[in-house]
Amino acid sequence: MDTARILAGTQVIHVLFVLAATILLRSNVVHGRHLHHWDSFDYCAISCRVHSASLTDFGGVGDGTTSNTQAFQAAIDYLSQFASDGGSMLFVPPGKWLTGSFNVTSHFTLYLHKDAVLLASQDESEWAVIEPLPSYGRGRDTEGGRYISLIFGTNLTDVVITGDNGTIDGQGETWWNKFHKGELQYTRPYLIEIMYSENVQISNLTLVNSPSWNVHPIYSRNVIVQGLTILAPVTSPNTDGINPDSCINTRIEDCYIVSGDDCVAVKSGWDEYGIAFGMPTKQLVIRRLTCISPFSAVIALGSEMSGGIQDVRAEDILAINTESGVRIKTAVGRGGYVKDIYVRGMTMKTMKWAFWMTGNYGSHADNNYDPNALPVIQNINYRDMVAENVTMAARLEGIPGDPFTGICISNVTIGLAKKAKKVPWNCTDIEGISSGVVPQPCDALPDQGSGYISECNFPTESLPIDNHEIQTCSYKRKYSLDNHVTGHL
Ligand SMILES: *[C@@H]1O[C@H](CO)[C@@H](O)[C@H](O)[C@H]1NC(C)=O
Ligand SMILES: *[C@@H]1O[C@H](CO)[C@@H](O)[C@H](O)[C@H]1NC(C)=O
Ligand SMILES: *[C@@H]1O[C@H](CO)[C@@H](O)[C@H](O)[C@H]1NC(C)=O
Ligand SMILES: *[C@@H]1O[C@H](CO)[C@@H](O)[C@H](O)[C@H]1NC(C)=O
Ligand SMILES: *[C@@H]1O[C@H](CO)[C@@H](O)[C@H](O)[C@H]1NC(C)=O
Ligand SMILES: *[C@@H]1O[C@H](CO)[C@@H](O)[C@H](O)[C@H]1NC(C)=O
Ligand SMILES: *[C@@H]1O[C@H](CO)[C@@H](O)[C@H](O)[C@H]1NC(C)=O
Repeated sequence: MDTARILAGTQVIHVLFVLAATILLRSNVVHGRHLHHWDSFDYCAISCRVHSASLTDFGGVGDGTTSNTQAFQAAIDYLSQFASDGGSMLFVPPGKWLTGSFNVTSHFTLYLHKDAVLLASQDESEWAVIEPLPSYGRGRDTEGGRYISLIFGTNLTDVVITGDNGTIDGQGETWWNKFHKGELQYTRPYLIEIMYSENVQISNLTLVNSPSWNVHPIYSRNVIVQGLTILAPVTSPNTDGINPDSCINTRIEDCYIVSGDDCVAVKSGWDEYGIAFGMPTKQLVIRRLTCISPFSAVIALGSEMSGGIQDVRAEDILAINTESGVRIKTAVGRGGYVKDIYVRGMTMKTMKWAFWMTGNYGSHADNNYDPNALPVIQNINYRDMVAENVTMAARLEGIPGDPFTGICISNVTIGLAKKAKKVPWNCTDIEGISSGVVPQPCDALPDQGSGYISECNFPTESLPIDNHEIQTCSYKRKYSLDNHVTGHL
């Protein structure tokens, strides 16, 4: 559709309308020769959309080598006008769509067909450099700015990024190599980052080989992440799965993650920058997560937790060949808190540490952190877990003069590996209780007897994000076999 390609970028609605009408006419003329088919399907989303377009309407070429950056941005710029008129959806058909970064908009759905693959451009000039996050003060890899994420959105409401398991391929290898060689001027891009937004859904996609973190909702509320498959080599640097960061009311469900860093890393800013910004992550639900991460944690809390982390509930977790189960990472100078953490129903197979808390993680943004800013780690509850082939049950290391308190572990059976450490528990500067835990915990977690199993609390009332409704939406669009649009509903 060459005419559309020329027009892409100029948002003259009536011209597009005439164009559409012309195509409709033309296809009617050739009706006998062209086979038409309907692209129609149902999908689940927080909001359905009245308007839609296909990437091919804006000159997209799915050959794996043509850049579609302009096509994506032109399509989304055009569709953004429908924000207050029922919203819009951009459909990405089967194909390999090479693209640099593009920005999404409000009341908008990006939908990837199962055979659609977004290929992230490896050309650094296709990635704008943006300011560091205010709660971090600098980029995570380098001082100063950072490459914008592949799919980026800020100050939005009602954004859906979904599909029937379409793929986003970060083609991260060149970024990993440059990172290892110290050749990057800026912090590596993430695959999806949504900032300062509310009502966000990211679901039913496969994300592979991210240059760095995969999914990063930050300074946002009402976020649903569901049905993601996230894959990266287990040796790839910082390929965290999902990082809710200074977010309120988040639900992460039914995800399968194999990666080179933490499967889920809960964060809220770094040292003095995070303390000053002061936005916690709270009211987070994580359920039905499968994680494989031989060098990192299933769920990490920190290390950037200076805005605070509170009320995290995780359940039905399966970990295989992973370094640690739940890990709290913090340091003197972080300030903030990690409190009211509830985890139950976790199965772990082949782990180095079932539980790990680290009070001396270090890793400071710069040397201006406040040595008196001590983190508060309090009310941490783990229950109903089974682990096998574990090297060491727990390494729980608080901060001298700033103990981690209110730790409760109950109904946990840890089977040790043949080559296990002689002392299965090592606890320093922590306080708490235990009940029904095998092997017997350290003296800092005295056994309360089996009657106390129910003491390790797990809240019974649900969080508001669990009442957030997901609707069934329908998409219907008529195509001719050569993929030219012939009309749509
Ligand atoms: C994801 O897909 C599954 C079917 O595979 C469906 O049951 C679920 O509702 C979808 N969820 C979202 C949020 O897209
Ligand atoms: C996307 O948004 C960011 C931040 O607002 C901006 O710097 C960037 O230029 C935008 N990209 C495009 C293609 O408009
Ligand atoms: C986005 O929202 C933040 C926080 O409310 C505000 O500081 C910032 O100026 C907004 N940015 C834009 C581009 O509107
Ligand atoms: C989505 O695709 C990935 C990668 O091919 C696959 O492992 C996963 O099982 C698929 N998920 C669903 C729900 O089909
Ligand atoms: C103990 O944990 C197991 C799962 O590991 C669970 O099936 C069982 O119901 C729990 N027992 C109690 C008393 O909660
Ligand atoms: C137990 O863990 C070790 C690594 O610590 C691994 O080599 C071995 O295969 C595991 N055994 C089983 C039965 O999973
Ligand atoms: C226990 O942990 C402390 C603090 O991390 C460490 O200094 C000590 O060597 C450990 N002890 C054993 C027996 O591993």
